Amino acid sequence: MLTNRAVSLLKRSAFKRAAAIGAVALATASLQPVAAQAAPVPVVGGTPAAQNEFPFMVSLSMGCGGALYKKDVVLTAAHCVDGSGNTTRITATAGVTDLNASGAIKVKSTKVLQAPGYNGSGKDWALIKLARPINLPTLKLATNTRYNRGTFTIAGWGDTSENAGTGSTKLLKAKVPFVADRQCKRHYGSRLIAGQEICAGVPRGGVDTCQGDSGGPMFRKDDSGKWLQVGIVSWGDGCARPLVPGVYTEVSTFSSAIARAAATL
Ligand code: ARG
Repeated sequence: MLTNRAVSLLKRSAFKRAAAIGAVALATASLQPVAAQAAPVPVVGGTPAAQNEFPFMVSLSMGCGGALYKKDVVLTAAHCVDGSGNTTRITATAGVTDLNASGAIKVKSTKVLQAPGYNGSGKDWALIKLARPINLPTLKLATNTRYNRGTFTIAGWGDTSENAGTGSTKLLKAKVPFVADRQCKRHYGSRLIAGQEICAGVPRGGVDTCQGDSGGPMFRKDDSGKWLQVGIVSWGDGCARPLVPGVYTEVSTFSSAIARAAATL
């Protein structure tokens, strides 16, 4: 049985090994003609989600993702909204993986609540109140740090590569391992707000959330096998670069504030 310390040391060296591999891969990639590179697999490095696989996933009309926190409240990122107040401008689309499918449930917003004190760094969460409840399963929030480890699922309709700029009409999913703050800081330094943000990514790159995935959930199963939201897609340098993890709002830090805020909507 490995101690936690041993496991984290092993993981660190795996990350370092990938540093070397990644550097070689990057050097190689820049020498390859574009056509010789693998086509981006529909999130970066993702595969299509099955209908009803993630029933809590919501697409928001400003080009962000979200998750049903209550049947009539969507949790998204603060940077996806302009501020707090009454607005009917946002449309939430749910119940489908293909945004153009005829069965799509579309509901307008009535209110937005941006994280109190949000100023562009940290506190990247917001709630959107819907005009009517959507009868689909909600996604439970992590209320402590217990599940801030392991492998997470990410899903979204965002870009499939760093410069794609178009997003995907189909919901894509991928798996990304937790990256410890210490490791994440090797790239981001003090830009990472460790108490408010949680990193995840594949050391060698190729799998990540990207532009358009923001606000969507990063989640895993809890011990009872139920999906639990541990992150909100927030930011990153580029997408899916080797040794550059994605940065997610650490849901466990804000779960009480989110619950309190939701009660006022
Ligand atoms: N800020 C982006 C958005 O608004 C999300 C970027 C996530 N980037 C990443 N490398 N994980 O959609």
